[in-house]
Amino acid sequence: MKKLEDYIVSIPDFPEEGIIFRDVTTVIQDPEGLKLAIDTMSGFLDGVDFDVVVGPEARGFIFGMPIAYKLGKGFVVIRKKGKLPRKTISQEYDLEYGKAEVEIHADAIKPGQKVVIVDDLLATGGTMEANIRLVERLGGEVVKVVFLIELAGLCGRKRLADYSVESAVIYEGK
Ligand code: PRP
Ligand code: MG
Repeated sequence: MKKLEDYIVSIPDFPEEGIIFRDVTTVIQDPEGLKLAIDTMSGFLDGVDFDVVVGPEARGFIFGMPIAYKLGKGFVVIRKKGKLPRKTISQEYDLEYGKAEVEIHADAIKPGQKVVIVDDLLATGGTMEANIRLVERLGGEVVKVVFLIELAGLCGRKRLADYSVESAVIYEGK
């Protein structure tokens, strides 16, 4: 039987030299890969008491939504700046070069709600840190953070040390 890592294609020198890009499109385009990914990531939530799944644009949508559906929860989106039509709060975070900003609808999380955040990849952890800030600023409690892939060499887990972090596939390097 194929394992989850067998569905992930690694592309050297993309988008720039020295970076190995871990492509998740090959996981989700295969019906068994898709099922394995969603079942494995949902499995981390067995016995976890929570109210809602949050996922960041774009690849967090791909994995967060089916997990929410499977577990009978709602799904809240975090989007890149300027996309959400109603009242939002926003959070800046650092990229390798420059800054980015993400937003959530101000009424999307109710104070006291228990939140699970799902994304495809943990690299430096900067994106997830911004997601967590948004949820917490609305009064949500982040009870777990779930990734398909973790690049352990970039130490994102250290940055998220105050949270319960689960990754389905861990690569030792960057
Ligand atoms: C990618 C990836 C994660 C993030 C991880 O998102 O999907 O969300 O980077 O990097 P970090 O841990 O160093 O923050 P990106 O915004 O590049 O693209 P996307 O819109 O395709 O999800
Ligand atoms: Mg992303």
